[in-house]
Amino acid sequence: MARMAASVVESGEDAFRKMFKFYKKRNPPPDYSAVINFSRGAPSDKIVPADLDSAAVSDVEAARVGLRPVRDWRAFSLQGYPGFIFICNPFLSGSQSYWVRQCLKIYPQKPNICNLDMHMSPSDTEDIWGKSVHALSSPTGKKEPKTLLERLRWVTLGYHYNWDTKTYSANSYTPFPADLHLLSLQVTAACGFPGFNSEAGILNYYRPDSSLGIHVDESELDHTRPLLSFSFGQSAIFLLGGTCRQDPPTAMYMHSGDMMLMSGQSRLLYHAIPRILPAPQGHTTLEMEGCSLTSSLQEDAVVEPVSEEDWALCSRYIHNSRVNVTVRQVLGPGQSFPETPSPLQRTDTGQTDGPHDGAADRDHGKRKRSSSDSVDPVET
Ligand code: SIN
Repeated sequence: MARMAASVVESGEDAFRKMFKFYKKRNPPPDYSAVINFSRGAPSDKIVPADLDSAAVSDVEAARVGLRPVRDWRAFSLQGYPGFIFICNPFLSGSQSYWVRQCLKIYPQKPNICNLDMHMSPSDTEDIWGKSVHALSSPTGKKEPKTLLERLRWVTLGYHYNWDTKTYSANSYTPFPADLHLLSLQVTAACGFPGFNSEAGILNYYRPDSSLGIHVDESELDHTRPLLSFSFGQSAIFLLGGTCRQDPPTAMYMHSGDMMLMSGQSRLLYHAIPRILPAPQGHTTLEMEGCSLTSSLQEDAVVEPVSEEDWALCSRYIHNSRVNVTVRQVLGPGQSFPETPSPLQRTDTGQTDGPHDGAADRDHGKRKRSSSDSVDPVET
């Protein structure tokens, strides 16, 4: 019989780790009844509708990046987690396809950095999409080597996060994608953070058995600015804990199109992804939604229609995978990086491959590999 989350975890010795293992376990499968599903959930004692600033983003600005008018968004906060905002898929129907295509085809391109750069030459990783398209769109049925797209685990944008030193630096920077900045600017403004500067991005690519270890995102120098997260493709269980590992986390589903903002007291909380899973029955999936935009695009729209050809590959990929994009402002106004880099600090692709080969994992340098495409949670 499936065990209940509550019977596994009480506060105490690494309650987070116990809960992580509970949801990661496949046999027997866990009981998901304690997992909050915001897209179904009526407000309860714990789930409270969040007030957004609908005047901060006009309907036209929202539509340019593929979003519905802010007044129509369903946003929630969680009792006990001040500064945490969950937004249930606010995308216009068909517009997620644009963002998925960017994540798979455009953002992995140079000058952005990805896990494959750690052990392949720039010329080998310069066209990940082009080198994968043929094998992915016409599978032979035989066991074939994984395509580069299937081996992609992370991409960094803007100030490139250094997984070894867990720092950003001024000398490892390439321009942040303008379209993703605009999307982030509108969402953060609606959540009460006008003037957000998207300076760094991390894309995590999850296969069905990937997980992301327990961690806190604290490398940014200004923690007064929020951390923004976008999810596409398969659903995930997201665990949000406290400021120490003894605090039992709250489990929630993240479905395709959902967004999360961590700010204020919730900016530095432990969190993790123990599990990727299909959306529950009855949930409209991205594949069902497809790539046809239902509303007509304005002349200056940022989102553009995705060709049937590109969408065929994207939908094949997200059929069993998930992509998460986190966008961060690294520096506060007038702030700069410390003059002297730490001795460990390296620039650019001088990073070691570290532990990234197999999974979306934030616990770089300490990761323990297991036989599946997943990681043991380790403290960061
Ligand atoms: C996620 O994949 O939803 C979490 C990503 C992160 O914590 O950076």
